[in-house]
Amino acid sequence: MKNSLLTILRDKKTSCAGFRQAANNLATMLASEVASSLEEEPVTVETPLGNGSGKRLAHSIYLLPILRAGTVFLPPFLHLFPDAKVGFFGIRRDEKTAAPMPYYENLPPIGPSDDILLLDPMIATGGSALWALDRLASLSIPETRIRLVGIIASVEGVQRIKIKYPHLKIFVVAEDPSLDPKKFIVPGLGDFGDRYFGN
Ligand code: PRP
Ligand code: URA
Repeated sequence: MKNSLLTILRDKKTSCAGFRQAANNLATMLASEVASSLEEEPVTVETPLGNGSGKRLAHSIYLLPILRAGTVFLPPFLHLFPDAKVGFFGIRRDEKTAAPMPYYENLPPIGPSDDILLLDPMIATGGSALWALDRLASLSIPETRIRLVGIIASVEGVQRIKIKYPHLKIFVVAEDPSLDPKKFIVPGLGDFGDRYFGN
């Protein structure tokens, strides 16, 4: 199913409504996949008839979307993690150099044992994600506690991120082989934000 949704996103004939629907459904599936990877710890609860042993998430969840496109992940992730804390990185790529240009940041206090889900559907050069990861590192948040969640990454972008953060967990639906001269992912899906937000 994930690949069918990805194909709808890749197809340049997909309408804005179709793109939104496929992206939202794919984000829901990714949320569930990421949730399955989270550590749980034993807990005892009182049922109406006695004590029951069960599990609960071991760490608090922090959702950190990279604006704009990362906000697409928020509704399905908040649905699954209704008590998650949310912070924002505003980063846009310079149109000529593709270098990350941070323009906004609003992070809640994050501790070293919290589970961080860094959300951005596209990882091209890896520059935007790396900027956010460096910022989290500067706050002493260990890379082992961070999951980077996206839809398409380039092989080059993933390699660049992995060199600096080898223990980071990366969840993407596809790794595409190359970048074009403007640093867009090929074959990719074009500009995710423009297609989702209807620009
Ligand atoms: C896109 C995308 C990532 C970034 C990926 O954002 O959502 O944040 O580019 O490219 P990179 O790996 O080379 O940094 P964009 O700058 O287009 O902003 P937007 O989300 O506002 O559309
Ligand atoms: N951002 C996108 O939305 N698409 C790309 O291919 C690269 C960056």
